[in-house]
Amino acid sequence: MENNHENGQAITLYEHIGGETTIRRLVDAFYDRVAVNEVIGPLFTGGFEEIKRKQFMFLTQFTGGPALFTMEFGHPMMRARHMRFPITPAAAEAWLSCMRGAMDEIGLEGEARSFLYERLTQVAHFMVNTAEGGEASQ
Ligand code: HEM
Repeated sequence: MENNHENGQAITLYEHIGGETTIRRLVDAFYDRVAVNEVIGPLFTGGFEEIKRKQFMFLTQFTGGPALFTMEFGHPMMRARHMRFPITPAAAEAWLSCMRGAMDEIGLEGEARSFLYERLTQVAHFMVNTAEGGEASQ
């Protein structure tokens, strides 16, 4: 993985994976899977258009691209934004399995994939707010 532009400026993960085009393809492939996932699909009752737009903005800034999400919605506070949904450990695993499937579908491979997946795994686990039986936990 090349780490710098010729002028010495660091190449972001966003640029490395192909920027906007790749993130759009990833988000589309991801929510196609989420929609039919039996564990987390039912949590998405509002349709996918707006959530795809938000996830595109979030992943853009998460990978080091323009801070689109923050510019429109303020601080991401992802855990707080998810508190209205019961997110169990199984839900986090389901989310991650949709993400792996999406990465496979668009052909995101190598170090960039591992790095992004690793970081998303941390975020997904941090989002868990409900024990497996359904009891809320802070
Ligand atoms: C761990 C399992 C997760 C579940 C079950 C889950 C589920 C959800 C649901 C149901 C929504 C609301 C959809 C709607 O408004 O209709 C949402 C919003 C969102 N999720 Fe997740 N999510 C998870 C993890 C993650 C992770 C790891 C990320 C980021 C890497 C993420 C990013 C977002 C974003 C950006 C939004 C939009 C927030 C907003 O309303 O401003 N989610 N998620």
